[in-house]
Formats: sequence, C-alpha cells, structure tokens
Amino acid sequence: MSKRVLIETVGCQMNLLDSEMVVALLRRDGYSVTHDVEMADVVLFNTCSVRQHAEDKVYSALGTLRRWKQEHPDRILGVLGCMAQKEQHELFARIPYLDLVVGPGQLQRLSELLAGAAAGERRQMAVSLGRTAGSRDEIRRSHETFDPLRDPTMRPTPFQAYLRIQIGCDKFCTYCVVPMTRGPEQGRPPGAILREAQTLARQGCVEITLLGQTVNSYRYETGGQTTDLADLLFRLHEIPEIQRLKFVTNFPPDMTPRLLQTVRALPKCSPYLHVPLQSGSNAVLRRMKRGYTVEQYRDMMHGIWDTVPAAAVSSDFIVGFPGETDEDFAGTVAAVREFRFKNSFIFKYSPRPGTKAITRFPDDVPQDVKLARNNELLAIQDAISQEDNQRFIGRTVQVLVEGPSKTARKRAATGPRLQLTGRTHCDRIVVFEGTLQHVGAMLPIVIVEATAHTLFGRHATRSAMRPGHFE
Ligand code: SAH
Ligand code: SF4
Ligand code: F3S
Repeated sequence: MSKRVLIETVGCQMNLLDSEMVVALLRRDGYSVTHDVEMADVVLFNTCSVRQHAEDKVYSALGTLRRWKQEHPDRILGVLGCMAQKEQHELFARIPYLDLVVGPGQLQRLSELLAGAAAGERRQMAVSLGRTAGSRDEIRRSHETFDPLRDPTMRPTPFQAYLRIQIGCDKFCTYCVVPMTRGPEQGRPPGAILREAQTLARQGCVEITLLGQTVNSYRYETGGQTTDLADLLFRLHEIPEIQRLKFVTNFPPDMTPRLLQTVRALPKCSPYLHVPLQSGSNAVLRRMKRGYTVEQYRDMMHGIWDTVPAAAVSSDFIVGFPGETDEDFAGTVAAVREFRFKNSFIFKYSPRPGTKAITRFPDDVPQDVKLARNNELLAIQDAISQEDNQRFIGRTVQVLVEGPSKTARKRAATGPRLQLTGRTHCDRIVVFEGTLQHVGAMLPIVIVEATAHTLFGRHATRSAMRPGHFE
C-alpha cells in the first residue's frame, strides 16, 4: 500500500504554493495524502517565521506528536519552510524526535531526504546559505524554485491557482525575516512563467494569482532585454482560457504608472491591488526602512485612483513598532480614514531574531497598548469597509463562484440549492444561493445586502442586468 503523508501549512500564499509542489513531488514518489494523523506515515509542517506566534504554534504542535512518533519510530516527522531555514539545528535541539528540516529553497531535495530518513538516517537537513555565507551567486543558487511541479488537488479550487514569478526579497524592512528565510530576490524566466500558466489553463484554471514578496519589482534580464510585471501581464492576458489575473504583494515605491495603465488596459487584470502601507507615521516608516513617506504613498494612491478608478486597494499594518507614540498611531488611523482600503491586515509588532529592528530598537510598546491599537484600527477599517460595501447594493457584479459557503459546508444539504461563495473582479467576497453546477462559473449577481467583509446577492437573470454596472 502506498505511504501516506499529512501536510499542515501556515503562512503566506508562497507556502500554500510550496505545499502544492511538495505534494506533487511526493505523489510522484508514490505517496498519497491523508488528513488523519493516525493514518499518516509522514507528517510535514510547512511553517512561517514572520511572527513569534506562528513559530510557537508549530513548536507546540510538534510537541503533541511525541507519542505519535514514539509509538511507531519508523514514522517520519519533518519541518519545512521558513522556520526550517531560520531555526535549522535549533529545531532538532528542541524536538529531539524530529527527522527532517528543509528550508523553502531546498524543497526539491525532499524525496532524497525522506528516503534517507526512511532508511534510518537521523536528522536530515537541507537549508539554503545565509545572506552573507557566500558569493551572491552561490547564495542565489542555494535558493531554488521547483515550480513546474503542480498538483491540482492542492489548489484553493480546481479553477484558481497561484503562480510564482519571483522568489526572495531584497527590501530588508527592519522588522522582517523574509529576506533571510527566502533569500535574494530573483525573477523567474518569463518563458517558464508562460509555460506554467499554459499548463494551469489546460488543467482548467480560469484565475491565476501571480506571487512575489514584492511582485511589482519583478524584473528579468536576458540578452539586453528586460521583462517587467506589465510585460508579463500582457503576455499572460493572451491565454484564452484565463479570465482573471491578479498579483500580490506590491511594494509602494515600485508601483509604476506603466503598471497601473496595464491594469486599466487589460480587462482580465483584476482592479485589485494589495499595497501595504505598514504605518501612517513617517518616523516609523523610516525606522522600518520602508523607503517611502506617507506623502509618497499618497501620490501613489492618487495615481491608482486616477488611472484605475474602480480599483480596490488593501493594506497591511504593523502596530506597536518600537517607539510608536500615540501621535504616530494617530497618523496610521488618519491614513486608513484617508485611503479607505478595501480591507487591512493588522499585526502587532513581533521582534524577530536576525532582523535589524531587534538589535536596533527595544520592543518598548507594551502588549496591552499594541492590542488596543490593533483593535481600534480594525474597528475603523471595518466601519470603512462596511460603508464602502453599501454602494454595491443594487449593482450587478461578475462573480467567479468558488464553492459552497462556510455555512453551507457546516450544514448538511437538504435540497439542490445551497449557499455559494465567490469573488468579484475587485476581490470582494459574495455569498448567494445557487446549485453545485454553478461552481467554477462566472455569474452575474445582484447585490442586495452588504457587511464589512461580505456582499450578499442573488443570481441575476439577463433581463435584470443593468449594463454599465459591472465590477
Ligand atoms: N512581502 C510582503 C509581505 C510580507 S509578510 C510585503 O512586503 O508586504 C506579511 C506582513 O506581515 C507584512 O506586510 C507585515 O505587515 C507583517 N509583518 C512582517 N514582519 C512582521 C513582524 N516582525 N511583526 C509583525 N508583523 C510583521
Ligand atoms: Fe519583508 Fe519588506 Fe520584503 Fe515585504 S518587502 S517581504 S515586509 S522585507
Ligand atoms: Fe511566513 Fe515565510 Fe511567508 S516567513 S509570511 S511563510 S515567506
């Protein structure tokens, strides 16, 4: 019987994509996927180091697997991803029964390492070089990407897929581990990206989300010719099966007018831009080394509003960054009110070993202040989202139907009709009633109700559609 692997994934979309590839690789080796830990021969955690909390949860989950491993010592327990790269031997020191540690730039070696562990070799480890542990070329080569391997069963849905166009990050924001865990920024060759997109289209994908930590900084140079994100979008736009193209995450200083014009010119490009501001205080932005001021971000926002008026913009914020005063935080509140983001992801600052911020700035904002600022900002953002979502009431939006809603998944179906969920072109969640045949389709939905996070609607018949009101 084939061996079974359970893979648990946390962190960003990069990790979801890496897990898809790991599963594709292991299936090729004859593994099947299980969700039951007792049935699993191999348990892998694909991990994130961006905040302490994410690491603590993995350590505690690894702790609960002690008995699982002791009962059958031939079972294999592994840690993949950013924590593997960051913690390395520390993981073996803290979890003595751990078998494997594989960084995100070395996942292509997983088969060989698993085979070694199965043959009784203890403590298999493959990690990339540190940012100063060799020449730039050696470091780059130690962070590989094995993207052509895909596994449709691991996608968000069968018709939506991620496609990595860039690995690593060279921005070195002072709070962030990603440049250390994912290595130097490297654009993938456009030809490889295009071929992968064609494969995804053949497999039934209608929506592709291009991934990069600073996706709009994407550059690939060959033979004196440079390809940027706008060029890529033009080429991907020609694939007939693809109906929607998205890209995340954008770095504010690299948001060029040309990219915005491209989003406007190409109807398949979603009018949705995730461009994290992080803080509304110039002093904090400077200490974060983000490379822009609030004024420059404002100019960028005006560029977005002027060029792509229908664009929905979302952001990330860190509250309680070292030295953040009430006044600095008031700047963040003012920025959220001014820019009216579609939504914001808000995080409490977490000092990370290996970053500049942890050595330069004491973590001096008390936990309760961080929490209060987090809650306050969230409430302000939610009120804005709630208000802005109201203007969708009465409009017809095109929704890519993803599947049964959370509520429908919990409830046993009692008839052919059930609650479905999907997204608008501008990335808003829409819930409506339909049938399973609608899943994967692009449907016109009339919005009848709106909350901060969800639009509620009903399937529009053709006669009910009002031309000119598509989003
Ligand atoms: N490359 C992306 C995302 C990086 S991680 C970008 O630049 O936007 C996702 C988010 O986690 C960041 O945008 C930031 O808001 C948050 N984050 C990163 N490091 C953090 C830390 N040390 N403490 C708290 N939040 C952090
Ligand atoms: Fe981290 Fe900054 Fe790079 Fe984003 S741009 S991954 S926050 S260093
Ligand atoms: Fe986390 Fe690594 Fe992504 S640290 S946010 S999984 S790049």
